[in-house]
Amino acid sequence: MTGLHDSIRIGSLLLPNRLVMAPLTRCRAGEEGIPNALMAEYYRQRSGAGLIISEGTNISPQAKGYPGTPGIWNPEQVKAWKIVTDAVHSAGGRIFIQLWHTGRLSHPDLLPPGMHPVAPSAIAGEGAVRATGNRHPFPVPRAMSTEEVEATVQDYLHAGSMALQAGFDGVELHAANGYLPEQFLNDGTNQRTDKYGGPATNRYRFILEILQGLLNIWGEDSVGIRLSPSGVRFGTFDSDPVQTYGGLVRKLNELPLAYLHLVEPLTEIPENYLAQVLPHFRKIYQGRIITAGGYDATLAAEVIHQGEAEMVAFGRLFISNPDLPERIRIREYLNEPDQRTFYTGEEKGYTDYPFLQSNC
Ligand SMILES: Cc1cc2nc3c(=O)[nH]c(=O)nc-3n(C[C@H](O)[C@H](O)[C@H](O)COP(=O)(O)O)c2cc1C
Repeated sequence: MTGLHDSIRIGSLLLPNRLVMAPLTRCRAGEEGIPNALMAEYYRQRSGAGLIISEGTNISPQAKGYPGTPGIWNPEQVKAWKIVTDAVHSAGGRIFIQLWHTGRLSHPDLLPPGMHPVAPSAIAGEGAVRATGNRHPFPVPRAMSTEEVEATVQDYLHAGSMALQAGFDGVELHAANGYLPEQFLNDGTNQRTDKYGGPATNRYRFILEILQGLLNIWGEDSVGIRLSPSGVRFGTFDSDPVQTYGGLVRKLNELPLAYLHLVEPLTEIPENYLAQVLPHFRKIYQGRIITAGGYDATLAAEVIHQGEAEMVAFGRLFISNPDLPERIRIREYLNEPDQRTFYTGEEKGYTDYPFLQSNC
């Protein structure tokens, strides 16, 4: 019977366990989105994870939707990320970068002068964006031209090449949680009439073009994708999510991906959405699956034992427990995460969570 602490191979990478550190935005990369020594220390501390997936990282200046989030489009950022990846590797860890574009979930104050948030269609997100110290309603985004969509695919590939130079072990396309790829995929946010809109096969074209391009750069087993088939964050909505995501996941079977990363819903969902995504997509997807969303050690061990998923990602528990795999292995108590310091506080609530005594 496979356990959480059994190793698993992904291409040339041997993960010593199946506990993945989920992508976690922590907003500590400053105005210019350049990683720093504190971030290197934070990731180094968590190198015991079978795999670290970095926080969402902006692929271009246009992609940004939160203050203090890092980027991966210029040489300064590459140089700074190299310090992070070196720190993780020196401590024996492995790290993928999560490639991020927030699309309509942004604000002009977060973008370079003259830029406005963009999206497949001019439909505003629900809720508020944190920019220049205040919260503002999401503005109505500008609908992208077909050429702009094609250029954005190229932005993802540029970021993917930069990530290779920065020493990452792979890339994850963030296509979950209401951000740009999901805005293309769902018909509630995509009313386009060009090749990127209309039937689901057109709506997932954007995602498939990016994945294919990233695979050309990175090769097989080095590109993953994160999806939230039952996610309705910021008013993202699809009239038939089971069909839409089913069609996409069947196409993913044709690509030599490292994994499919599925997020379970943590909030209430509409009637036609799946309450549990993993059992449904396990039947469709033939590759490795990482499951995420609300797992504790017991539940995680269960899905691994039952072969429902190959790996389990932990988010909040990895924030508060740098040595989470070891704590779970020896059934030690877990530190509680402090929500107040998720997105602010420099080292507080970031690099100062205690290790087990033996690991100090
Ligand atoms: C502080 C914080 C930041 C997050 N940032 C990201 C992110 O950058 N990218 C992403 O895909 N998910 C992000 N998430 C979602 C987590 O990856 C994860 O799916 C979620 O926390 C549920 O898992 P958990 O119950 O183990 O915490 C974030 C969650 C939290 C709490």
